[in-house]
Amino acid sequence: MNIHIFDNAEQIGAAVGEMLISAVNNDPDISLGFATGASPVPTYKYLIKAYDEGKVSFKGVTTFNLDEYCNLPKSDKNSYYSFMHDNLFDHIDIKEENVNFLNGNAEDTEDECKRYDALIAEKGIDIQLLGVGRNGHIGFNEPSDKFTKGSFRVKLSESTINANSIYFDENPMPRYALTMGTVSIMKSKQIIMIATGEAKKDAIYGMVHGDITPVCPASVLQLHPNVHIFLDKDAAVRL
Ligand code: GLP
Repeated sequence: MNIHIFDNAEQIGAAVGEMLISAVNNDPDISLGFATGASPVPTYKYLIKAYDEGKVSFKGVTTFNLDEYCNLPKSDKNSYYSFMHDNLFDHIDIKEENVNFLNGNAEDTEDECKRYDALIAEKGIDIQLLGVGRNGHIGFNEPSDKFTKGSFRVKLSESTINANSIYFDENPMPRYALTMGTVSIMKSKQIIMIATGEAKKDAIYGMVHGDITPVCPASVLQLHPNVHIFLDKDAAVRL
C-alpha cells in the first residue's frame, strides 16, 4: 500500500486530480471507476478546473460508478446519478453514453447486477477511486462474514444509515442499495482511496494494519498490488 498523508482535503484533491489528469492524458480512452460521498468532491472540483483550463478532455473516457441507492428516483438530488452529474459530469465533456451506473430502480435487481458486471468485464476498470465508510465499507460492501464477488443488492448497516441520513431532508434515506462487489473492485488495475477526518481513523487502522477480514471490507486492499491511499492527518492519526 502506498500511503500519502496531507494537511487537508484540498491538497488531496489536487494530488489525486493530478494523478487522474495524467492518466487520462496518457490514455484518452481510459476506464475510470468513480465514487460518491464527500471524500472525492475536492478531486472532482480539481478535475473541473483543469478541464476549464483546457488541460484535460474526458471525451473518450468511460466511467463506472461503485454503487446506487435502491428505490430512489434518479432525479432525486441524493441519487448517486444526480451526485455525479452535479459534482462532475455536467461540468466536463464526458459523453453521457460512456457513463455507467447500477440502476437501483431496476425491477429485477439480479439481472441488473449481471448486466453491470458484464459491462465491467468487457471494458475493465483502469483506476478505481474509493472512499471508505466509518465501519470500513467500500462501495456499499458492508461488514459481513464473507467477502462479496460481483454486484449485488445490499441492506445498509445502521452505521451507514447514520452517516448518510444527514443528506436526506425530503425523501427518507433508502435502506437498500446496489453495489459493485469486492472482487470487482479488486480487479481494477489501480485503486486510489481517499479518506479524511477523525471519524475514519479506526477504519483506516483496520484497513492498513488489521487482519484481512470481511468484518473490515477495506482490509482486502492489502492484497491489491497497486493501491494509493490519500489521507489527511486526522484520518491517519492511528497509523
Ligand atoms: C458512502 C458510499 C461510499 C463512500 C463512503 C464514504 O456510503 N457508498 O462509496 O466511499 O460512504 O463517504 P464519505 O466520503 O462521504 O465519507
